[in-house]
Amino acid sequence: MKVISVQNSKGGVGKTTLAINIAKYLSMGCSSKTILYDADPQRTAYDWFCIKEDQSFKVVPIDNPKLLEAQVEKADYDYVVIDNPPAMSQFFITSIKLANYLVIPVSSSAFDIWGLSSLIDTINMISKNFSIIFVHNKIIRNAVIGKEIKEALKEIEINKKNYIFDVLFRQSYPKSALLGETVFDTDDTRAIAEIEFITDKIIRG
Ligand SMILES: Nc1ncnc2c1ncn2[C@@H]1O[C@H](COP(=O)(O)OP(=O)(O)OP(=O)(O)O)[C@@H](O)[C@H]1O
Ligand SMILES: [Mg+2]
Repeated sequence: MKVISVQNSKGGVGKTTLAINIAKYLSMGCSSKTILYDADPQRTAYDWFCIKEDQSFKVVPIDNPKLLEAQVEKADYDYVVIDNPPAMSQFFITSIKLANYLVIPVSSSAFDIWGLSSLIDTINMISKNFSIIFVHNKIIRNAVIGKEIKEALKEIEINKKNYIFDVLFRQSYPKSALLGETVFDTDDTRAIAEIEFITDKIIRG
């Protein structure tokens, strides 16, 4: 079983968007069982799930970090994805301890770089037992800030297992989410390729 925790204490960076799209791709694999725990009291992932409820994976809201730990420990799934709230709460700590992969979206804003070092310091203190997948999200082509974010990400060292992926700003992400769908229900092949590329890293290890 692999546990993928999508987190950043900063809000609006794309945690839920990535969590549902990554979970979707993981669940599309041959008989792979996937579950997404929505640890965010805003319940965004669960609300998204309730629009259709016929996903290839379940979304389960969870409001207690201890319960999350217990559920994950006894889970009979190939992949467990955790969508975290935008806060350094007990969920933040528990998810880091449980994770094999930390997916950390960082959007293209100066404020995101400023928050990054304290985020990384905190993560570092809790555990180093994971690979980190930074996702430079909502990239707007040729925007100057993009280069600086990339440089900041490259400088970060938590362990040697850090990866950086790019996800561009694309309408297909919010549009599909609004319908209770993912980019895999659209004809946006570039968005699909972005998610596949990130998720293949998790699948192949
Ligand atoms: N690559 C992208 N292109 C365009 N829009 C995006 C992209 N990624 C995320 N968004 C949009 O950005 C907004 C915030 O995304 P999302 O809700 O996934 O962030 P979050 O980190 O989960 O937020 P919160 O911290 O509130 O839980 C949403 O409207 C979402 O549709
Ligand atoms: Mg969210």
